[in-house]
Amino acid sequence: MNVTIIGGGYVGLVTGTCLAHLDHTVTIIDIDKTKVDAINDAKSPIYEEGLDVLLKEHIGKNLKASLEYSSIQTSDIVFITVGTPPNTDGSSNLSYIRSAAENIAKEYMIGHTQHPIVVIKSTVPPGTTDNIVRKTIQGCIPDVNVGYCMNPEFLREGRAIVDFFEPDRIIIGSSDQVVIEKIKELYENLDSPILVTGSTAAEMIKYTANAFLATKISFSNEIGNLCKKLNVDVYEVMKGVGLDHRISPFFLNAGAGFGGSCFPKDVASLASMIAQNDLDPVLLKAVLSINSNQPEKMILLLKNRLISLNGKRIAVLGLAFKDNTDDIRESRSIPVIEMLLSSGAVPVCYDPKATENMIQVFPDLMYCSSAKDALKDADGCLVMTEWPEFAELDEEFSLMKNRIIIDGRHILTIPDAEGVCW
Ligand code: UGA
Repeated sequence: MNVTIIGGGYVGLVTGTCLAHLDHTVTIIDIDKTKVDAINDAKSPIYEEGLDVLLKEHIGKNLKASLEYSSIQTSDIVFITVGTPPNTDGSSNLSYIRSAAENIAKEYMIGHTQHPIVVIKSTVPPGTTDNIVRKTIQGCIPDVNVGYCMNPEFLREGRAIVDFFEPDRIIIGSSDQVVIEKIKELYENLDSPILVTGSTAAEMIKYTANAFLATKISFSNEIGNLCKKLNVDVYEVMKGVGLDHRISPFFLNAGAGFGGSCFPKDVASLASMIAQNDLDPVLLKAVLSINSNQPEKMILLLKNRLISLNGKRIAVLGLAFKDNTDDIRESRSIPVIEMLLSSGAVPVCYDPKATENMIQVFPDLMYCSSAKDALKDADGCLVMTEWPEFAELDEEFSLMKNRIIIDGRHILTIPDAEGVCW
């Protein structure tokens, strides 16, 4: 099929590249020329394992990036994968969604050779597909018979390529039979359960899945904080709890809390929708509050051992919001670094992939090119990201001035690291 993707961010780029690998012909549209040029040079603007290889395989063949919208006219399917950043009250800013819908309508006015289908992949509040995308396009071109679908994405950063080709489920949110069949055909080479539902239910499924996963993490952190007081290892507790198939062992890892561009934003957005509907989002407020308190717990453990942090050199291992990505959005290392700085400490940072991005946030910090360099002469160490290479660290800790090591991710294998919840 001919597919256009509007928005060459994380979701659009991964989805477009993977669809090209499924033999579709894909154009990714973005307003950022640097990004478009990078994609066309087969250089991924983000770090995502396996993406560069797929880009190299398909760019210039059945995949390209463009600043122009004209490929929409000849596309079977147009995906909207633009950002929905949070407003100050936690609700989602839908201005990029509106402008994508307007641009689609403009191109359909010029001409279209296919029965046009518009698919929303961005995370959008319930009702957006119908009330914003459909209404905007229909308002401009009432005579064109456009099909609509909400098809949420469930990709995890760092594992997105695998998640695309081995999804747990594909959600098709549409009541239009032509659209449903076309989307099934688009993904026919993927072995996955398919759930066909309404577009509003599909929008809710995405928020609910992310909020549930975030709730599992905050629940584990609350239990972990108690376990710490009781001198019990919460990882042993959750191993026993997760063996119950109704609970499952996943997303029960207590520690520094969740970050990233999705969980904090989506939970806040869902809480704001609940409040707008005259309900009290008691549970989701607690999920966010537990999460925002976890980084401080790490600082308090450090203070317990060092008394004062003033002038102390603290190695911060891990800047990305999780392993296998260079993304630092809402990373738990950000509040930790802020607290270290306000206590007069000197953070000395290391991350295998995310240093360049963190320099944009904290240009004046000390950044090292290895964990070993960051640990040298350090008065303390905080482990903020679950990078597998940190599990290998051992002798490197003997370079520290004071061997005080706080693990926020249960990743270290040395016996004397203190866990934030264990
Ligand atoms: C999350 C969802 O897992 C994806 O299914 C979804 O598609 C995506 O959001 C999205 O909405 O786009 P992602 O944000 O890439 O994916 O990362 P996760 O692997 O879910 O991790 C999120 C955060 O939770 C990380 O900071 C991680 O360290 C933390 N985490 C995860 C824990 O603290 N404990 C756990 O047990 C698991």
